[in-house]
Amino acid sequence: MVKAPASPQPEPKPVIVDPLSQTKPIPPHAPLAAYYPSRQEQPAFVRALFNRAAADYDSANAILSLGTGQRYRRQALQVAGLCAGMQVLDVATGTGLTAREALHLTGPAGAVIGVDVSEAMLAQARRVPGLHCVQARAEALPVASDRCDFVTMGYALRHVPDLAAYFQECHRVLRPGGTVLILEIIRPPNRLAMALAAFYMRVVVPALCRLRGRGTARTLLQYYWATIEACVPPPVVTGALAGAGFTDVSVRTELGLFALYVGRKPR
Ligand SMILES: C[S@@+](CC[C@H](N)C(=O)[O-])C[C@H]1O[C@@H](n2cnc3c(N)ncnc32)[C@H](O)[C@@H]1O
Repeated sequence: MVKAPASPQPEPKPVIVDPLSQTKPIPPHAPLAAYYPSRQEQPAFVRALFNRAAADYDSANAILSLGTGQRYRRQALQVAGLCAGMQVLDVATGTGLTAREALHLTGPAGAVIGVDVSEAMLAQARRVPGLHCVQARAEALPVASDRCDFVTMGYALRHVPDLAAYFQECHRVLRPGGTVLILEIIRPPNRLAMALAAFYMRVVVPALCRLRGRGTARTLLQYYWATIEACVPPPVVTGALAGAGFTDVSVRTELGLFALYVGRKPR
């Protein structure tokens, strides 16, 4: 058999190695087998969960936070430096509870974009006057590089599949000098606090929600607690922020249950 002459091989393209893209994934917790069979199924499970609970989310949140959620969010944004005229990206915006407070602080001279994977949560967020909503994943933000003054995230870090990928995206979209702020609930420090928080979140709040709404918040709150119990501790999160290039990284915890993570993109 006569071999066909070898056609000239195209010049191999140079491989551009981006050191950040080589980063090892940092999942916020191990897969939760009681809810989905494998890590691959986690994003679809989370999206469906929030789609189902969207109509009840705000009332569940009000009960969970004993009515303090709005003030707490606004103060956290203010203390981290969010102010009038800023361009803000609120990732995993949900129904817009954190974005609403950001809009209050930026005023008409600024802008807030809310990003979320759940179409039902976004449908609620679209009711917030002045909030621009986009359906997208935290790990692939639909914003050009160096555009935002502030990236915020309220109570969603436990649902993002890879903290390293997400923080790289935050770093990319922020202008030099910009700030990332993450509000999160963390695992309580001792067994008594754990037992009390678990009882409140898994039993008391779902029961109160059932009295007020359609009861779709039950699975949401049980999953919420499961992710808090399984979540990586604050030093892993601050390490991941530093690994993505953030400086002045800090975490402030309150009542052993609430954490505020802040990082700045170097100028
Ligand atoms: C507990 S809610 C938080 C809503 C709001 N940020 C707040 O302060 O109340 C979590 C939100 O994260 C969204 N979410 C989960 N995984 C996500 C991802 N990978 N990318 C973007 N949004 C995500 C869910 O759809 C849900 O709306």
